[in-house]
Amino acid sequence: MNKDLFIRRRRGVMQLMGDGIAIIPTNNEQHRNGDAYFRFRPDSDFHYLTNFNEPEAVAVLIPNREEGEYILFCRDRDPLREQWDGKRVGVENAVKEYDADEAYSIDQLEEVLPKLLENKSKVFTLTGRHPDFDMSIIEWINEIKSRARSGVHAPTETADLAYILHELRLIKLSDEIKVMRKAAKLSALAHKNAMQASKPGMWEYEFQAVIESTFLAGGSPAPAYNSIVASGANACILHYIENNQQTNDGDLMLIDAGAEMDCYASDITRTFPINGKFNPAQRALYELVLKAQLAAIEQVKPGKLWTDYHDAAVDVLVEGLVELGLIKETKEESLKSKSYTRFYMHRTGHWLGMDVHDVGDYKVEDEWRVLEPGMALTVEPGLYIPADDDIEPRWHLIGIRIEDDVVVTKDGNEVLSSGVPKDPDEIERLMQEAA
Ligand code: GLY
Ligand code: MN
Ligand code: MN
Repeated sequence: MNKDLFIRRRRGVMQLMGDGIAIIPTNNEQHRNGDAYFRFRPDSDFHYLTNFNEPEAVAVLIPNREEGEYILFCRDRDPLREQWDGKRVGVENAVKEYDADEAYSIDQLEEVLPKLLENKSKVFTLTGRHPDFDMSIIEWINEIKSRARSGVHAPTETADLAYILHELRLIKLSDEIKVMRKAAKLSALAHKNAMQASKPGMWEYEFQAVIESTFLAGGSPAPAYNSIVASGANACILHYIENNQQTNDGDLMLIDAGAEMDCYASDITRTFPINGKFNPAQRALYELVLKAQLAAIEQVKPGKLWTDYHDAAVDVLVEGLVELGLIKETKEESLKSKSYTRFYMHRTGHWLGMDVHDVGDYKVEDEWRVLEPGMALTVEPGLYIPADDDIEPRWHLIGIRIEDDVVVTKDGNEVLSSGVPKDPDEIERLMQEAA
């Protein structure tokens, strides 16, 4: 991404901070087992402000500080460690390449940061994100307090930087939408490849391999979240990630998987017949979920409430479930009693951005958020039918979800993930082409 974007973001945050100091650490490396570590991923807020992707780093923002407003603590260069683990940016390049006004070794944090806190009235932190680090900040403040007789004063106010930062992150700028478009396009290709590779008897992890090899080959370093590759009854488990069962002829496959690019997520779900042909019960439910999804997408435009598209999806689903005899009450009764949650128990989406369930409040001063251009969200209705005695067996254990990534535009919306079909005839055609 353009370097200027990060400068503009830091400036934007500092304008909203007023006075004070913001301290933003990145993630720690996470131990996996033995000598192995999980693949490192920077903290999203830290990356948003710095574009700096190494562990053991802390960014400090101090608006109007004469010596410089942006201070970065990072690892020193270390030829021995770099021989084993790869290149490090180092303090010098943190200034040259990452536009820090000042940079220090992370080993100097304890010595330098308390001085930066002196005589500041307000400290902004990511409260609760890194509890050990929160404790360090409290200790540094206490240490300054203990020196009050020498004339220094300690900050008297702490505030959560998330309130400022996450409002900014909620509205995606064109550079960000460009990256999200790219991630969604790659994920759409991966879902198409999975549909075309599909054969009864394939194992769920073989589908996962098709999906994730497409991500890797397309330049995505990792999925944005654990891929859900759920055949047959497994599709009724909302966050099924074992992905270790052999698929059966006649079952559906639900894949919920999205590539991450430049720290931006995509999040797509498609459901398709493993043998390339929906049976009548599967098709009836699939068409209902699709109708609900299309009705929901219609509601994604400026001026609509965050809840409108969920309500639209529920309205269509309940009407259809009554018609199909799965709900035995009237539509109005079911909406009131919420009996439909037996088949549809999650919301129709979430904000999407650097985090797959992205930041940003859904309510503002007790009112549901009004959609604005630049907000990105998923639209993902589904139906999950239990194998209960009062339900006709033909519906049993069918699980369907259709999920797209949508950005609110000036006069409507853009579906970023339209590169993979969701119309049932088109899916069947695509699968037949490959057979
Ligand atoms: N993949 C998680 C979700 O759809 O929210
Ligand atoms: Mn989602
Ligand atoms: Mn998903």
